[in-house]
Amino acid sequence: MTRMAVYAGVFDPPTMAHLEIIERALRIFDEVTVLIAKNPSKGQPLFTADERVAMMEASLSEEQRRCVKVSAYEGLTALYAESIGACALVRGMRPYADADAEIALALMNQSLAPDLPTVLMVTSAKNMYLSSSFVRETVLMGGIVMHGSVSSAVEEALRYYTIVFGDGRKVTRDTEFYGVQLKQGDMVYALVSGANRDPRAYEHADEFVVDRKRSNHLGFASGPHRCLGAHLARREMQVAVEEWLRVIPDFRVETDEPLVERGGGAMTSLMNLPLAWEVEA
Ligand code: HEM
Repeated sequence: MTRMAVYAGVFDPPTMAHLEIIERALRIFDEVTVLIAKNPSKGQPLFTADERVAMMEASLSEEQRRCVKVSAYEGLTALYAESIGACALVRGMRPYADADAEIALALMNQSLAPDLPTVLMVTSAKNMYLSSSFVRETVLMGGIVMHGSVSSAVEEALRYYTIVFGDGRKVTRDTEFYGVQLKQGDMVYALVSGANRDPRAYEHADEFVVDRKRSNHLGFASGPHRCLGAHLARREMQVAVEEWLRVIPDFRVETDEPLVERGGGAMTSLMNLPLAWEVEA
């Protein structure tokens, strides 16, 4: 007998964490039906149900497509899952943020469909804190995203929002550079933030691609003065993002005004970034 589990959610948009849950579910069940909620209770989704179905389908491997069905649905998940012959419900669970809500949901589904157990799964550590809301915010702030992880997002932030945007250097000998005569002792300024968005070096150079595969950016400069603290800085940024998402997984940019960056000396930063999130009483 084929054992089919239902993995239902909003998937706005699908992330690597969702794909990992599907992969893990397939180690237990013969088939997985991914049900994408058309009208989630959380509010208006960023992507339409059709877009989310298409994104999820496009993210599956050839092999997975043979045993994973994706469709949109409306109504009560447990009853719908029972009606299509599921033997279990699968849910992904992140620590802290999700645990209480997921257990409450499992109990509610159990009362609606007592013969349909819920299997709560965790992802590997690298996808543990990845959430659709994080990916969604990136989309809203101008990025294009499909898969992602915190470390590739940090790397892309270092490229796209180059913090140390330029390097000053003293010319050591008379030379010509692209037709410009430079004399020994002249000061030059290399705008690495411009190089970091060079379309000859990066595909979609002017977009924030959260899962960019290869990024040899100049966010830490290059050559003999390359940042000595690059590894520590990366780690700190990653921990900061992970901790933020652990405590505040769902947030939004609370302004319709354009976000303004200001440079001073060699550093650049946002003048203002109003964020908002719901706080439970
Ligand atoms: C996101 C954080 C950071 C960014 C974007 C950054 C960026 C840079 C850049 C662009 C340079 C080269 C400056 C130049 O070429 O003139 C530099 C140099 C340097 N950075 Fe960082 N840095 C960061 C964090 C850190 C940390 C955490 C440390 C130490 C723990 C550190 C230590 C250094 C040192 C010692 C140099 C001088 C290297 C040299 O001149 O030989 N940086 N950094």
